[in-house]
Amino acid sequence: MKVLVVGGGGREHALVWKIAQSPLVTEVLAAPGNAGTAAQARNVPLKADDIDGLTALAADEGCGLTVVGPEVPLTLGLADRLAERGLPVFGPSKAAARLEGSKAFAKEIMTRAGVSTARALLTRDRDEALAHSRELGFPVVVKADGLAAGKGVVIAADEDEAAVAIDDALVERRFGESGADVLVEEYLEGEEASVLAIVDGERVALLTPSQDHKRALDGDRGPNTGGMGAYAPAPIVTPAILEATAADVIGATVRALADLDGTVYRGVLYAGLMITDEGVKVLEFNCRFGDPETQVVLPLLDGDIVEIMLAAAQGELDPSTVSSKDGAAACVVMASGGYPGSYEKGKPIAGLDAAERMDDVIVFHAGTSLGDGGVVTSGGRVLGVTGLGPDLERAIGTAYAAVDAIDFEGASVRKDIGYRALNRCGAR
Ligand code: AMP
Ligand code: GLY
Repeated sequence: MKVLVVGGGGREHALVWKIAQSPLVTEVLAAPGNAGTAAQARNVPLKADDIDGLTALAADEGCGLTVVGPEVPLTLGLADRLAERGLPVFGPSKAAARLEGSKAFAKEIMTRAGVSTARALLTRDRDEALAHSRELGFPVVVKADGLAAGKGVVIAADEDEAAVAIDDALVERRFGESGADVLVEEYLEGEEASVLAIVDGERVALLTPSQDHKRALDGDRGPNTGGMGAYAPAPIVTPAILEATAADVIGATVRALADLDGTVYRGVLYAGLMITDEGVKVLEFNCRFGDPETQVVLPLLDGDIVEIMLAAAQGELDPSTVSSKDGAAACVVMASGGYPGSYEKGKPIAGLDAAERMDDVIVFHAGTSLGDGGVVTSGGRVLGVTGLGPDLERAIGTAYAAVDAIDFEGASVRKDIGYRALNRCGAR
């Protein structure tokens, strides 16, 4: 069977890498893919939001499964379009993807489902938003309702910062229609973790819990990024938290969605958790795999991901087929100098072969392309270098040894991936 993977980042390279291992698969297509996916897949130069082009590609190639990486095509209805043509797809419908596409909708479903989350007010009135932020006290969190490429959330330390964030969204319309409404939300203190679940409309199977590192600099300082690294398993997510998340968060949310208007959720449901002193609260839902979480979660997934995804797509998931390998994985992102601000592209990358030859190393490409002389940088996050090991400390050591073998001008790397878990286990 041919499988089409939509997207071109590190997450999609990890998906291609895992899917290519399935005995069911004859060829993997990646649209648009990157220099890394080109080694295991046929790259097709279509953008991830080209819904017509992608639907036609899946139909013309007779793809037995399409796996959608990013949120944008899902919120635009790619899964619905493929399903209309009778093409199997792993990823939620447009209606189900509202859990990520509208933070207000996600709050409504969480309220119906009894899921614990931060208190929030939705408004399009700037004075009401400001009054609410004063009521909640500072810091306060201001969120654009819709998708904003990870830039729509501001943690405002005081009233002045809250006013700027509210005006940016509601008055300046910095996020366009996505910021026509804002959520003003209670600030939660704690440690974050990512729990990704495979959902078939009803049944739920959790993948290994992970933690990413959103800030650019060591010690979780500096600006927010798409994610500078990740590791799994995350010991902060205890078996009790995991069990409660499966039932009371993922299961309850999927049921509430079905009860509201019959919307069926099929695909990955990603719960961004905040583990606070008062218990576990949901920060956000994503309707897709996380990036870079996927680069640590998939190497730890036992079994055939294509079988699992096909079963979920058909509403016939057997959760017992989803299990984790022993050991741990750590992914260190190598980013372009200046990221998440502006950066230069086209820098030649040296040492990829040497890193890939190392034991227990997988080099996932994100922002790379093939230049005349070899692989060059083409994005902010360039590589996700994953190390595997019997425990987290050794996985992290392996990942950094591989990072040391790779070089490109201006490369920026966090040196402390996994530090919270190592502190927790007393290894540091
Ligand atoms: P979101 O897209 O809603 O997950 O927000 C992006 C990031 O902002 C999260 O990963 C958190 O680091 C932070 N954040 C969001 N909501 C809150 C909150 N209520 N309290 C504290 N931090 C938050
Ligand atoms: N790593 C966060 C995300 O994928 O949204």
